[in-house]
Amino acid sequence: MMGGKITRVEVAVPERRYEAIIVSGLLEHAGAHLREILGNRKHLFVVTVPQVRRRWGKKLMASLASAGLKAKFIEMPDGEQHKKLATVEALGEKLTRLGADRDAVVLAFGGGVVGDTAGLLASLYMRGVDLVQIPTSLMAQVDASIGGKTGVNLAAGKNLIGTFHQPLVVLIDPIVLSTLSDRQFRAGLYEALKCGVIGNRKLFEYLEKTELKTLRRNAAELQWVIAESIKLKAKVVAADEREGDLRRVLNFGHTIGHALEAESEYRQFLHGEAVAWGMIAAAAIAATLGRLDENARDRITNTVFAIGPLPKVTARNHGILRFLQSDKKTRNADIHFVLPTEIGRVEVVRDVPSEIIVQALDELKRLSQA
Ligand SMILES: NC(=O)c1ccc[n+]([C@@H]2O[C@H](COP(=O)([O-])OP(=O)(O)OC[C@H]3O[C@@H](n4cnc5c(N)ncnc54)[C@H](O)[C@@H]3O)[C@@H](O)[C@H]2O)c1
Ligand SMILES: [Zn+2]
Repeated sequence: MMGGKITRVEVAVPERRYEAIIVSGLLEHAGAHLREILGNRKHLFVVTVPQVRRRWGKKLMASLASAGLKAKFIEMPDGEQHKKLATVEALGEKLTRLGADRDAVVLAFGGGVVGDTAGLLASLYMRGVDLVQIPTSLMAQVDASIGGKTGVNLAAGKNLIGTFHQPLVVLIDPIVLSTLSDRQFRAGLYEALKCGVIGNRKLFEYLEKTELKTLRRNAAELQWVIAESIKLKAKVVAADEREGDLRRVLNFGHTIGHALEAESEYRQFLHGEAVAWGMIAAAAIAATLGRLDENARDRITNTVFAIGPLPKVTARNHGILRFLQSDKKTRNADIHFVLPTEIGRVEVVRDVPSEIIVQALDELKRLSQA
């Protein structure tokens, strides 16, 4: 089924201009789109995980075949714990066994874990081969597949090994989200909400008034939410591809979010859920500092909660604060907060007093009890 109109969002980074193409039913036309971009290059390798392959693999392969493109699957095991160098090595070995040369094209077909791992593989294999992102989780569709960051984790922290490797194109089919669990769907939606608060008031207001169930059923509106989120990210990375101050606005909700994830050893929260709490905390901090009015703060908090239940925040403050500090040490990054000043606008603030951070953490725990 081909849904409504195609949305094309251009991502223009210095080394490349590429498009994110978004439309329901796109998977069935992936072959035609890739044929246009790749010509008749022969060596396509689809990196994926078993559960995505099982549900959507046939559809993708049929569409590639009908466009005269030959592709082979190479699988990696599912889960964040496999986003590591050993997986990149294993995938590389599979590529050589299948005869992949410098003309190979890697198609990353899965959630953000596949996108980041396959992206790193593509940037390293034979010093770099072409990459196509076909994200299948909402998190990957609104965020991970755009901007060219690749990476894997080390024991010391997430994404500590990585590169920038931009894809040739990003193909987004909201239909594949139908098999995503509600929890994973919500986790991705918090990143879309983040984009709304950072710089898209209309997107925020849409999410504020729309029920999750309605959104999941409405392909056209889902396409719009994805496209608006990507536009925001594309605008930011085009202006600042690397980690400068501008790109930092994308970290709204991530300062506390990362600390919550790390403190709970990545077991309690999905990334998006930790970011959801982080956005509530950032709004609280902004309000305490007198930079955000109470009404806007409540709207942000209420919209986060309206998306659905979140795992409770139970950690001790000093534990969370320790991880705020350790992030700073590992990455030599200063502790900065991205604080909303109104809905659709944020600022980067570096000198938030620790009492005010503690107060925000207390608030998260109070809300967890409510
Ligand atoms: N590169 C970036 O800029 C960037 C940005 C944000 C997040 N990330 C990374 O992305 C990762 C998180 O991505 P994620 O949330 O997609 O997690 P994930 O890739 O682990 O996917 C979550 C789960 O959903 C499954 N899944 C994916 N698509 C599905 C579908 N259509 N139907 C059924 N199940 C499906 C996956 O197999 C997995 O079990 C993290 O490692 C994070 O660091 C990267
Ligand atoms: Zn994030």
